[in-house]
Amino acid sequence: PTAPPVVFHYIPWFGSAAYYGMDPYKFMFECRDKYGDVFTFILLGRRMTVALGPKGNNLSLGGKVSHVSAEDAYTHLTTPVFGKGVVYDCPNDMLMQQKKFIKHGLTTEALQSYAELMPAECQEYFAKELKLSKQNPGPKTVDVLHMMAQLIVLTASRTLQGKEIRDNLSVRFAKLLEDLDKGFTPLNMMFPNLPLPSYRRRDAAQKEMSDFYMSIMAKRRTGEHDHENDMIQALQGSVYRNGTPLTDRDVAHMMIALLMAGQHTSSATSSWFLLHLAHDQDIQQRLYQEQVDNFGNPDGTFRPMTFEDTKKLPIMDSCIRETLRLHAPIHSILRKVLQPIVVPQSLAAPSENVSYVIPKGHIIVAAPGVSQMDPKIWEKAGSWNPLRWLVDGGIAKTANEQYQAGEKVDYGFGAVSKGTESPYQPFGAGRHRCVGEQFAYLQLTLVIGEIVRNFKLTAAQKAIPETNYQTMIVLPLDPKINLEARV
Ligand code: HEM
Repeated sequence: PTAPPVVFHYIPWFGSAAYYGMDPYKFMFECRDKYGDVFTFILLGRRMTVALGPKGNNLSLGGKVSHVSAEDAYTHLTTPVFGKGVVYDCPNDMLMQQKKFIKHGLTTEALQSYAELMPAECQEYFAKELKLSKQNPGPKTVDVLHMMAQLIVLTASRTLQGKEIRDNLSVRFAKLLEDLDKGFTPLNMMFPNLPLPSYRRRDAAQKEMSDFYMSIMAKRRTGEHDHENDMIQALQGSVYRNGTPLTDRDVAHMMIALLMAGQHTSSATSSWFLLHLAHDQDIQQRLYQEQVDNFGNPDGTFRPMTFEDTKKLPIMDSCIRETLRLHAPIHSILRKVLQPIVVPQSLAAPSENVSYVIPKGHIIVAAPGVSQMDPKIWEKAGSWNPLRWLVDGGIAKTANEQYQAGEKVDYGFGAVSKGTESPYQPFGAGRHRCVGEQFAYLQLTLVIGEIVRNFKLTAAQKAIPETNYQTMIVLPLDPKINLEARV
């Protein structure tokens, strides 16, 4: 067996960094045409082996802990930002338990209370920041990514993060978040520690934010605060199987991790969603009508959505799914190869008689976005068509619903489940699969629902914007839409 083919490049150490960095999907689709589903490219001295397609995704996402390591691939980027002792700065088995603690915090009761809290945050934002109302309907052109970053942090901080975080958002917290963000870039991934101001600010912000969570927990112990159903409350008191409790510092660092994990993924997704709505009046009308049919009062107002309600909206659900298909926020999922991985021959080179082994030390890359946009799998793969998900007016079960129903399909803690072989995996698969899917769906449904109820969206640009791949998350480049209050 041989190592996978290496993508041709001119400059030895630099390799394909420029092409991959500029447009990873274009790069991967082109390489697939030339080299097949499995190939290696050089990225600033690192050997990155991409394994494409559902079977390729399965090689890394369904890989054994003894063969692939997420912590070795991510810790340089994430530990300075989240803090020590949790997520990728601890053995995998501890992360698996931390994820269980988080899941236990996302109870139906908690999610229900979040559903009640989010719309008020949106209404306040519409009135104070957008300054649009029935009396002053606009239209107004907005930077949709900026707007959604704000609405996502407002609604997440008021609910999951806790009241104290929300209360401090405009004071100090937003600045800390910005400094942390600037330490969460591809540059940081490649060079974890450079003597640059942005790195110093990242470290200072991590410490201050962590201390802030600690002070919240200390104050709460004195009984002064009403802590509702937030995640700080849920995590405190969690104990690992071996009897070791989570410390306040661990909780603080997990809270930062959750903040970072949810913020950009959900603001990117909702921005793309709104951009498509602005360019597709038919779908926008259907989405609005779904709100009217389910929640409209005779006087033109709307009743609030409950958590249960949010799960019964086929148009909304299919829009979110389709947006995640076409704009999966995470384009490359990475693992360090700890032991050589044998590539099934069918995947390596169906026509030739060779079999590949991915050597130890390589980074194996899964790119679910490639199979999610593969014209061989999806009809009109490149166009945003939410209706493709609807069958007989209903919608197929989400992976999350399958998990909730106890059908062990996609979540697979520890297990190599069939779910790791799917062509649609915006939330990943296998042991590292997202624990935030349910929260993300709730937040997207409520926030977008609130926007669609209140505003008519129209295009402010000729076409859907290009993609910016310069950050860790797949973002729209300079995205604008027009908002006009519905009267
Ligand atoms: C893991 C996507 C929202 C918390 C992941 C992974 C993906 C993903 C692809 C797998 C990463 C890997 O295998 O290396 C998304 C998308 C989101 C979203 C598309 C929104 C649209 C959230 C939210 C939270 C969250 C809101 C927290 C409340 C996590 C956590 C992990 C994870 C804790 C586990 C990491 C691991 O086990 O290594 N997410 N996520 N995510 N996500 Fe999300």
